[in-house]
Amino acid sequence: MTLTHPTTSLDALIGIPFTHERVLITTGIRSGLVITVAVHSTRLGQALGGARLWQYENWTDAVADALRLSAAMTLKNAAAGLNLGGGKSVIHLPFDTELSEAERRDAMLDLGDAIESLNGAYMTAEDVGTNAELMAVVKERTDHVCGLPAASGGVGEPADATAAGVYASVLATLDALFGSREVSGRHIVISGLGQVGGRLATALATAGARLTVSDVNLDKQQVAAGLGAAWVPVDEVHHVPADLFVPCGLGGVLTARVIGELNVLGVVGAANNQLAQPEGAAQLDARGILWAPDFVVNAGGVIYLALASEPNADLAVVAERVDAIGDVVAQIFTDAREQGITTLAAAERLAAARLDAARPE
Ligand SMILES: NC(=O)c1ccc[n+]([C@@H]2O[C@H](COP(=O)([O-])OP(=O)(O)OC[C@H]3O[C@@H](n4cnc5c(N)ncnc54)[C@H](O)[C@@H]3O)[C@@H](O)[C@H]2O)c1
Repeated sequence: MTLTHPTTSLDALIGIPFTHERVLITTGIRSGLVITVAVHSTRLGQALGGARLWQYENWTDAVADALRLSAAMTLKNAAAGLNLGGGKSVIHLPFDTELSEAERRDAMLDLGDAIESLNGAYMTAEDVGTNAELMAVVKERTDHVCGLPAASGGVGEPADATAAGVYASVLATLDALFGSREVSGRHIVISGLGQVGGRLATALATAGARLTVSDVNLDKQQVAAGLGAAWVPVDEVHHVPADLFVPCGLGGVLTARVIGELNVLGVVGAANNQLAQPEGAAQLDARGILWAPDFVVNAGGVIYLALASEPNADLAVVAERVDAIGDVVAQIFTDAREQGITTLAAAERLAAARLDAARPE
């Protein structure tokens, strides 16, 4: 028998070094879907990260996404000061697949079994394509799940906390740029008016900001009108001259071209993985644009899920921890300036210092 060798190495496919503690790739016994549970690190505690149910061309693309996203969760949880590691699960939906309610339920039960087999190394929550109701289904097979609906005794979805953390980061960025946290009169451009962007836009409008907004979903023009915000098409949004650009849509928005065309002093938003390439951090720096690293800015949701789920949680304390994201952002700006490094490098150093301090004997 002749073995044919693959033309693409796993390394080239995934594009990041393999530094994961454990990865489970399994075919769901009920759903037949490929489920990846990637535990990147448990050095600081149980790995926490959401479950993504998403379409990918190949199952290997879903595995690659799980590996990248779980590594990012390690950084996010460490920088947020949580005693939690990084993990993520991804359920691969082949292109053009629509799941019925029953099939979606099967996928969640399969996910629960996969998580349970890891004996507590990983805790899941909602993410893109999943929600609090689906987490209640996962709960039928494992206790290692949070973010259940309030009606099931859970803490619900985290968008309020994420938006509050982004708001605190906006204030820290204004302070670093202008020596004032005053929002009133500042021109802020928000791209993406979903769960987080919509809440943030409302809070900023209420505080007196002048808003320009955009979304691929044109129905959101009504939201813009209600807020008294100007509307621009998505392909023009990054050209708008303003104080801040706030990406709250999908990741990868900061390409080399977009960074080259930005007309703002700072970028601070909820979207995950904003930099299309890591070099984008240096390009922003070279253009004199202050970038607040996304994994620090958008940690409010994970802080809320982790701390509000603890027994006897005090929600006022949780809100303070979310608000303190602004202090972390300010510290990263200071570290970057004093050490002559990018804000991305400063944020990564902060996370690495926590992880190094927890290195096993
Ligand atoms: N929800 C949370 O608690 C949370 C936590 C951490 C990070 N994030 C990240 O924040 C971002 C927004 O999350 P969300 O929960 O508000 O999602 P959402 O799906 O509710 O909203 C996203 C919005 O962005 C719009 N959009 C999509 N692509 C766009 C584009 N190219 N340009 C402009 N608009 C676009 C969508 O139409 C939608 O209105 C995502 O990147 C998400 O991963 C969210």
